[in-house]
Amino acid sequence: MSAPLEPVQLTDGDLVLRPWREDDVGAYWTALESPGGRVWHGSTTATRDDVAALLAQRQDWSSGDRASWCATGAAGQLLGSLSLHHIDLDQRDAEIGYWTVPVARGQGVAVRAVEAVVRWGFGDLGLQRIQLFHAVENTASARVAEKSGFTLEGRLRQSHRFEDGLWHDELL
Ligand SMILES: CC(C)(COP(=O)(O)OP(=O)(O)OC[C@H]1O[C@@H](n2cnc3c(N)ncnc32)[C@H](O)[C@@H]1OP(=O)(O)O)[C@@H](O)C(=O)NCCC(=O)NCCS
Repeated sequence: MSAPLEPVQLTDGDLVLRPWREDDVGAYWTALESPGGRVWHGSTTATRDDVAALLAQRQDWSSGDRASWCATGAAGQLLGSLSLHHIDLDQRDAEIGYWTVPVARGQGVAVRAVEAVVRWGFGDLGLQRIQLFHAVENTASARVAEKSGFTLEGRLRQSHRFEDGLWHDELL
């Protein structure tokens, strides 16, 4: 069980993680529709209306089991998405998820953003465990996990169905 959370903004230099806003729908949709934008994307977002519904959910932190951020750069442009979900303050654990827009990849955005979220989770939120799952084939995410300090614990067989409709093994 979790108490309601108050949305917070996190920063790391010019990288800002702020709560999602309604007017982010267009930029989110553009990122999804760009080449590579849907690779390993976790949520079902076939239409722009799906994105609007998803962002409406993500703006609301009142359930206390999810915290979601829009990562932006110096000019306020969308760089990516971060979330802690399945937050359980009794167990003091949560799961982290992330993606970056294709044009921003390979510049260290994901690692910096993941580290900022992890600092907040272990610090302000008092978590003692944050889990990160990625498909075995997702070598970019594996590198993000490794660089931001996560420890490989094991392989989960056919544990998640991704947007390609197939179940993939994941690494925890
Ligand atoms: C995974 C993802 C978030 C990485 O974002 P990013 O902003 O490019 O990551 P970073 O720039 O912080 O790179 C981190 C490391 O990963 C490496 N990396 C990036 N793409 C890679 C790839 N395709 N294969 C192997 N390593 C890769 C980078 O080189 C860097 O390591 P280095 O500093 O030792 O060179 C991004 O590729 C993405 O959004 N992918 C699609 C969605 C996704 O996979 N989300 C995670 C689901 S678990």
